[in-house]
This record gives sequence, C-alpha cells and structure tokens, in this order.
Amino acid sequence: MHTTVGIIGAGPSGLLLARLLHQAGIDSVVLESRDRSYVERRQRAGILEQATVDALRAAGAGARLDAEGLPHDGIELRHDGRATRIDFPALTGGRRVWVYAQTEVVKDLVALQLAEGGPLHFEAEVTAVEGADTDRPRVHYRHEGREKTLTCDYVVGCDGYHGVTRHAVPESERRTFERTYPYSWLGILAEAPPAYDELIYAHSERGFALASMRSPSVSRLYLQVPNGTDPADWPDERVWDELDARLALTADPGRRLIRGPVTQKSVLPMRSSVTEPMRHGRVFLAGDAAHIVPPTGAKGLNLAAADVIVLARAFAHHAKTGSTELLDGYSDTCLRRVWRAEHFSYAMTTTLHTDPAQSPFDTRLQQSQLDRIATSPHAAAELAENYTGLPLDV
Ligand code: APR
Ligand code: PHB
Repeated sequence: MHTTVGIIGAGPSGLLLARLLHQAGIDSVVLESRDRSYVERRQRAGILEQATVDALRAAGAGARLDAEGLPHDGIELRHDGRATRIDFPALTGGRRVWVYAQTEVVKDLVALQLAEGGPLHFEAEVTAVEGADTDRPRVHYRHEGREKTLTCDYVVGCDGYHGVTRHAVPESERRTFERTYPYSWLGILAEAPPAYDELIYAHSERGFALASMRSPSVSRLYLQVPNGTDPADWPDERVWDELDARLALTADPGRRLIRGPVTQKSVLPMRSSVTEPMRHGRVFLAGDAAHIVPPTGAKGLNLAAADVIVLARAFAHHAKTGSTELLDGYSDTCLRRVWRAEHFSYAMTTTLHTDPAQSPFDTRLQQSQLDRIATSPHAAAELAENYTGLPLDV
C-alpha cells in the first residue's frame, strides 16, 4: 500500500491533520494502535484556544462544538484569601477560550474521517518507521494479525509521548529537553454542576487545586498530590473535602462545590519535554510526539492543533507550487511557539503548586508573582495572551 502522507496516531493531532489534508486534496492513511472506543474515551484536557476553535470550524468539525462548547471569557485565580478574575477579551483585544473536551473533539474528527476521509485503521500498531532520508519512507505495522508495510511520500508521527516515530530521527541528530515535577494531579470527573461559571485555579498551602468543567452538569476537578499517589487512597469524600479546603469556597455558601457521583478518578504525572528538531528528512513529528507540557496552562491539545495546521499548510503549499520552503521551515516555525507554551506552562505550574521542598522564600516569591498579576494589567495581560493562545506564526 502507498499513500502521500502516512499518519501515525489518531489522537487530536493525527485526526486533524488527516482532515486538513483531505480538504487540500492530499491523500493520507491514519494508523492507530488502539481501538476506536478507547481513543474516543481517553480523558484528557478540555480547553480550546480561539485559534483551535477557528481551525476546527474551518475543518468542518465545528457544529457540535458550537452547540455544546462553553465559551469562557475569563478564569479566576485564588490565593491568600483573595480572588482575581482575569478578563480575557478585555486584556487581549477580544480573545476567549472554549470548554469542550478532547474526547468530543476526537469523536467529531473520527466521525468525519470515517464518513468522508481517507483510510483510518484502528488496532494497527506501528512497529517501526524507516527510510526518513529516502524519498519513500516506510511504515511497518501489525493489523488484522498480519505484518504490513505502508510506503509514503512523507510520514508524520502523531503518536504521542510513547510513540515510535521519534526513533526515525537518528539519535545523533535528536535532542530532548526535559523536566519532571515533584507532584502529580489527581483528577476526578463528577456528575455535579460546576459551582461557578468559570475555571478556578487555586494556590494554597495545602497544594494546588483546579475547578474545571465538561458541561453544565459535569465537573472536572483536580488536586495536586505527591508523585506515586494511589487513587485508592483518595475516597470520594476525602477528595471533596480537600477540594473545599483548597478552593476556599466554603466561606461563601453561594460558591460551595456541589458534590455528585464521581465517575472517573486517576492520577496524572506532570512533565515538560521538547524533542528537537521536529523533522528529519521526510519524517515529521507533531503534537505530544514532539513535546509535552504540564496540564496547568491547558496548552497540550492547542499546541498539537497548531503543529498540524502549520504542517497541513506546508503540504498544501508543496502540492500547489512544488516548493518545499514551508516544509523546510516547519520545525523552526513550530518550535518558537512550542517553547513559548513550554515557558508559560512551566511558569503557571511552578507559581501555583507547592513544591514539597520549597522554602518560605520560594512561597513569598509565588505570592509576590500572584499579587503582581492581581494588581498589574500588564502582568494580567501577559497571562491572558498566553492562555488564550498566541498567533500561529509566533
Ligand atoms: N502505532 C500506532 N498508533 C500509536 C502508536 C503506534 N506505535 N503509538 C501511539 N499511538 C497512538 C496512541 O494510541 C494515540 O491514540 O497515537 C495517538 C497519540 O495521541 P495523543 O497522545 O492524544 O497525542 P496528540 O494527538 O499529539 O494530542 C495531544 O493529547 O496528551 C494530550 O494533552 C495532550 O491534549 C494533548 C493531546
Ligand atoms: C480540564 O478541564 O481538564 C483542564 C482545564 C484547565 C487546565 C487543565 C485541565 O489548565
């Protein structure tokens, strides 16, 4: 089998890329190791930047997002008994974000691809990508009990942090920059209306907490926990009590958390990682395959979308003009934006969490930074600009 662009992985980056290529008249094949139901149910983030929403609409995947997504014009930061609202449109010249879960983005893109796109094979596990330096790279995979090979003009690894495509870039040319954090997140999904209509990010001596949502009847809540935490040590009541303590909502009865059945509970590690370059020969990396951010800034899905928007434009430019200029610039173009998001995610994470080894001096620095955001429109605007997303070519 041969295709123009072989896409490995059917997460948001692989699926959106396949869709954008289809719209540009470029054929592709998507190979995904998991089954459809697993891919559609995997719990991930839920905040879409304006540019991601615009891209999904232009891709024809905006109907349910427009009907069910929740536009948000701000977030609240809580620290030291104080609440600061960050007003996105006022601080950014009109930009906002949407609450619409990654699971829903994936469902919409899978449905579109199966209805009118190129082949999308589930339970097709890629074992190796070879020939990045040749003009016919090959993808080896297992599907329906057989070993198969897909030859391609180009291969794009959208196969996440544990993917195999990264290994097609020779080790001598590949550099990974990484940082781990001394805490994780315990996340719950609860059948309970959110207590408040915007997200609350809380810094507290007990650790960080985040109140998010999936819909007007489903809350998504997170607590900072030590690395290695077993979710079984956190019965539902303990989670709710700790959320109340950290979010400091109980003083105002109108804003107390509303408890409801917990339908999902898991622990997420926090990591920052960037692999450079994001391209070698005819093999490209996009999304989590090339970079990971801790979830605090809600950048992971948006960065993945930005990569494939840039890449799809480069493929379309090449198909139309024969020029490889944009393909050649792909890695540098994306890495500028990736490093900005890495910095923002790192800064949000380290300002809002309590490092178990932090000194009183470190705590004062965090409080000073949070005070600065609370009192300076410039500092608040810097947060709002990064949170709502920078233009694609930054
Ligand atoms: N063969 C085929 N598919 C593979 C292989 C393989 N060897 N290895 C991994 N995959 C698939 C995974 O099963 C997964 O469906 O690649 C897909 C990668 O998807 P994601 O991890 O969702 O990555 P991406 O599409 O880049 O989206 C980034 O996901 O982790 C979140 O916060 C992150 O929201 C961001 C988004
Ligand atoms: C989420 O709703 O899952 C979410 C929201 C904001 C974040 C991270 C995760 O910063």
